[in-house]
Amino acid sequence: MPEESVSTRVRVGVVGAGKMGLSHLAIVRALRDVELVGVVDATDYLLDVLNKYTGAQTYSTLEAMLAEARPEAVLIATPTGSHAALVRTALESGVHVFCEKPLTLRAEESLALAALAQDRGLVAQVGYHNRFIATFQEVKRLLDAGAIGEVTHVLAEAYGPVVLQAKGGTWRSKRASGGGCLYDYAAHPLDLVHWYLGAPEAVRGSVLNSIFSADTDDEVYSTLEYPNGLSVHLSVNWSDESYRKMSTSVTLTGTLGRIVADRQEIRVFLRDDAPAPEGYRPGWNIRYTTDLTAPVSFYLRGEEYSAQLESFIAAIAAGERTARQNGFLGAAQTDRIIEWIQADAAGETSPALGPAAPTSVMRIRTRRTLFGRRKTA
Ligand SMILES: NC(=O)c1ccc[n+]([C@@H]2O[C@H](COP(=O)([O-])OP(=O)(O)OC[C@H]3O[C@@H](n4cnc5c(N)ncnc54)[C@H](O)[C@@H]3O)[C@@H](O)[C@H]2O)c1
Repeated sequence: MPEESVSTRVRVGVVGAGKMGLSHLAIVRALRDVELVGVVDATDYLLDVLNKYTGAQTYSTLEAMLAEARPEAVLIATPTGSHAALVRTALESGVHVFCEKPLTLRAEESLALAALAQDRGLVAQVGYHNRFIATFQEVKRLLDAGAIGEVTHVLAEAYGPVVLQAKGGTWRSKRASGGGCLYDYAAHPLDLVHWYLGAPEAVRGSVLNSIFSADTDDEVYSTLEYPNGLSVHLSVNWSDESYRKMSTSVTLTGTLGRIVADRQEIRVFLRDDAPAPEGYRPGWNIRYTTDLTAPVSFYLRGEEYSAQLESFIAAIAAGERTARQNGFLGAAQTDRIIEWIQADAAGETSPALGPAAPTSVMRIRTRRTLFGRRKTA
């Protein structure tokens, strides 16, 4: 067979053809290194329409697609409560997995899936797309370079207009199936915080409020505690119509400066005595996503959605055995933080949290802070 006729494209199947699945489907159909071999959904009329207008092979179950289409990789974009079983089936069949966030509803389950993927040497990635946004990547680069010194406080926020009236009937309106602001929205800033700072020691003051939803939360507030007095305040609301679409931001205060970042721009304040990284100077610096972003081969909704799938496919095509970014292990730790917030909001002392520590406001610390050196609080 002539060499050029041998397909080196990665054979991919998509599982779940709703909002995210259709977005992933459009992107993988445009990626040069991907051959789409099948689409699975639980809704037959959707499959009929997809087959009719795109020619894609369609299946009603993952098992049927695995048996007939023999994908090397699957993209799972079904309701969160169904992830665990689908991911396990795919991994046990020796198939690489990209799964939407959050990975599962139980951290223990996510950890077990991470271990399974590792044992099998399969690329296993989760759709925390913010890690593919250039401004949030620049935050990570600056933190790793120590640009703002020791981080002392973080405010992590996300707001948007998902639920603006009392109505139910979909998986999103029920916590048991993975619906709610904590799973759907707060998971994103929590994953960014976990990427930047690692896992907290404790979670306190958590509030899960319903505004419109009967069976789940619409707003989430919490404090994550880290060693040396570092704290993270989380503020997330998906019933906020003052935002046209989801808006995620982080503000990080350190001993040598401050970083404020969202999807559009990163603003960095550096003290006079901070060792400014290349391209930065003391005082305020602003860099925009348009200057920081590398091009992607196909643009849909934002370059991060393509970039994350390009990364997943590139790792498989290169024969790698782990995800280059957003692996299952990190996502499992984000699932753990979500569980802690639920336990804290319910007034439970989760075994994972350990015994209650003295209230943080009573602790006396001395440290050099950004806006007042060597302060006693
Ligand atoms: N990364 C992001 O920004 C982002 C945004 C939205 C949703 N999500 C995540 O994506 C996932 C899906 O969300 P969505 O908004 O696309 O949901 P959706 O309701 O729009 O679509 C889900 C689809 O999955 C199908 N489905 C349900 N159970 C199935 C099963 N067992 N097998 C095959 N198909 C099944 C449904 O018929 C539906 O078409 C969730 O985990 C969610 O948290 C991520």
